[in-house]
Order: sequence, then structure tokens, then C-alpha cells
Amino acid sequence: MPALTWQECINPNCRATYDIGEVLHGCTKCGNLLDVAYDWDRLPVPRSLKEFEARWSTRRNPIDFSGVWRFRELMPFVPEGKIVSIGEGQTQLRPSQRVAEYIGVDPARLFLQYEGMNFSGSFKDNGMTGAFTHAKLVGARRVACASTGNTSASMASFAAGLGGVKAFVFIGSGKIAFGKLSQALDYGAVTIQIDGDFDDAMERVQQVSKQLGIYLMNSVNPFRLEGQKAIMYRVLEGLAWDPPDWILVPGGNLGNSSAFGKAFIELQHLGLIRKVPRVAIINSTGARTLSELVNARGLQWNDGHVDDQAIESYYSYLDAKGIRAVTLASAIEINRPVNLKKALRTLQATGGVVREVTDEEILDAKAQVGAAGIGCEPASAASVAGARKLREEGLIEKDETVVCILTGHQLKDPNAAVNYHSAQGDAFKQAFDKYGVKKARFSNMPIKIENDLDRIIKLVEETG
Ligand code: F0G
Repeated sequence: MPALTWQECINPNCRATYDIGEVLHGCTKCGNLLDVAYDWDRLPVPRSLKEFEARWSTRRNPIDFSGVWRFRELMPFVPEGKIVSIGEGQTQLRPSQRVAEYIGVDPARLFLQYEGMNFSGSFKDNGMTGAFTHAKLVGARRVACASTGNTSASMASFAAGLGGVKAFVFIGSGKIAFGKLSQALDYGAVTIQIDGDFDDAMERVQQVSKQLGIYLMNSVNPFRLEGQKAIMYRVLEGLAWDPPDWILVPGGNLGNSSAFGKAFIELQHLGLIRKVPRVAIINSTGARTLSELVNARGLQWNDGHVDDQAIESYYSYLDAKGIRAVTLASAIEINRPVNLKKALRTLQATGGVVREVTDEEILDAKAQVGAAGIGCEPASAASVAGARKLREEGLIEKDETVVCILTGHQLKDPNAAVNYHSAQGDAFKQAFDKYGVKKARFSNMPIKIENDLDRIIKLVEETG
């Protein structure tokens, strides 16, 4: 009997397949990315997404509690008994009047999917539970990733929590927000700081993992993306299974956007959704590879027949000019996104678009999310800044249902927030000049005052 699930090359001219138990960073025949594939006709899939609601009453079972595995019939690559979970995905879909007004849409139809509520404070836990499940299946004892911070925090947390697995983190020097670095160190990961940036670290970790047989946890690993599909299942759940018009997501290594597209392609194939939302992927202008390739150079998925030459020629151009990614949204400071082609597939499958926003727009949007009492890290706010841009363009209409993915917690990057709100003069310039940020429109300055009761009372009364 043929397998129910396998790994498959995304290149339609290749379509090579591999056993689910193989550990691969890509297709060994043509070098393209791999998908986890399923024979849906022979797998038990619910007739309606609503059937998943039954799991709310059986939350004592850890895999029903998991915000990923309670949808396990939609990622059935392992038997239930083999699942590795730390209780990831306890997130909320939150409305916000304030953010809706900032974007310019109906407050009843704007939602923020707050992935900062994950155990390690970012959406990465959704993917790690998938990849660690596979890692255990194949008996991995050592795991590694390159990271702008959140992948490493999540991987280190899983490795420490599960025990028996050694974690190796590769980071660029001076490129990682302190909240995230502190997590990797605290959770006991071997943290290797390379003299270079994320793109350099990504290349090295793939070489090292291959050479030493270490299990790679970056999102070239297709099992990561299986878990990240669940973010979309929870968004649908939060909307009583009625798909929104738009999903906005920051684009870095393009794992999330790739996973979201796969989720919708599969849900549509299974007849489980009424319509497919449009996925808008938002780059920072300082790390704009996808935006450049899609919007300026016309790159498309083209049913899998991607123009490799166009990608290579852009990368050669970057190298020739010595252009590196530079954005204050350090999580997405990436110029060679490993999931580029899968993201193109998402754009085709969902009628998606790509936009770029400046670091100043990102910080202003972040301040609005903060002022709404939610907060997020800079990269996450790209989704809100992107929604505002698409609304201004008129592509998003006022009465459409819009979901912005807030990928990481506010506390991941305290420096960005404190500098935005309190730095002045030279300190402001030092923090923001190289990112082109000229002013903080929504800053909330701390007020300095001498230790005198009368003056303090007067000040408090004056400020309302
Ligand atoms: N938002 C946050 C907070 C992230 O940490 C990342 C990626 C992204 C958005 C972009 O997501 O890569 O799926 O397009 N962080 C990776 C890391 C690269 O190493 O933590 P993506």
C-alpha cells in the first residue's frame, strides 16, 4: 500500500518524493524546497471545521490543548502517540478599535492575531512543535538553527523543555534583539555568534548541519511549516470559521506566508472553506527582496515554473553592490529568504500582494498597537503598517474583514520601544538615523521631575 504521507519537491518538473522519515533540507535531485504531502482521499478529515470545536471539552488531553495539534487531522504526518508538544498556540484573535481607526477600517472587522502569547513569545512555537515531532521521530539528538532571534528562542525552549536534545543557535553579530538573545542564553542553547548577518548565519548552519548530521530547525524544514499552518486554523476558529478577506503578515524568511498559503490550498481542496483570504506579505524597505522581485521584476509562481534566473540575477546584483539587509525590524532583516518560492505560491493561490513599509511606518504602527494595550515587536507591526498602506491605496476596502498577524511579543525588543518613546536629540539620531527614522509621531515621553510632593501632585493634575 502506498504511503499516506510523504515529502515532495515543489518543482512541477521534478516532484521527487521522499519518505517521511528522511531528514532533508531540500530536494536532493533538483535542490528545490520540499512539502509534506498527504493522500487526503485516504485520510480521515472532518466534514466541517466546526467539528474541531469538540476538542475544547477535552483540553486535559495535551494534544487537544495544543493550539496546533487540536487540528491534527490537517497535518497528519505522525500517529498521535508520537506528537511532541509544550502546549503551544494558546493565542487570541483580538479586536482593536484604536488600531482599526489607525488603519482606516471598520472596528468590527479588524482583528489582531496575537502570536506573542506563545510560550516563547512568538509564532515560532507553532512550527517548532511540528519540527520537534519530526526530530523525535527520526531520533535526533542535536538540533540547530540560524536566527534573527525568535526561532532560536523557540528552539532553545523546546530543546530545554523536552530534554535529551542539545541546541545550537547561529546568530549574526549585533543583529539580535536583547529579549530574544536572553532567551536562548537562559534556555541553555550553545549560542554561536558569527561575524556576519542572518543570511551568512543561514548559509553556515545549513553547511554545518549537513556535515555533522545535526537536525536543522529552520523553515526549509517542511515540518516547521506544517505546524505554522495552525495559525490560520486558529484565525478561522476565532472568526467562527468564516474566512476573512485579508490576512497581513510580515515577510522575513517567508516561512509563515508559505505555511498560510499551504493551509488555504489544502482547506480549499478539502472543501472546508467558503473562500480563500488574500494574503498580503509585508517587507521592510530595508529588506525588500520579495517586494523587488514580485513588484518590480514581475516574478511569479507561474504554477511552479519559477524564473530561477531572475532570482539569481537579483542576488548577484545585491552582491555586486554590497547591499545587505538593514532594518530596525531585526526579525525580518533578511535579503535571501529561504522560502521565497513557496511564498510566490501563496501569492498565486490567494490572490495575494506584497508591499514594503519604512521603519518609521513600522514604529508608528507598533506604537498604535502598544497604545491599544496589546503591544508587539517591530517586525510584527509591519502587518499593521501594511494594512494602513493597502487601505490608503484602496485595495483593502473599509468594510472588509482584515486580520493582521502580530508575530512576536512586545517584550522581545524593549530597546526599540524605549528609544522610540524617550530618546531625544543625539540619542534619537544614534538609535534611528541608520534606519531612516526621523521622528516618533506617537512617542510617550517619560517626565522627569524633582522629588517634591507638591510639584508631583501639580504635574499629575495637569496631565489629567
Ligand atoms: N515576525 C517575527 C517576530 C519574526 O521573528 C519573524 C522571523 C518574522 C516576522 C518573519 O517570519 O520568516 O516566516 O517570514 N524570524 C526568524 C527568526 C527569521 O530567526 O526568528 P518569516
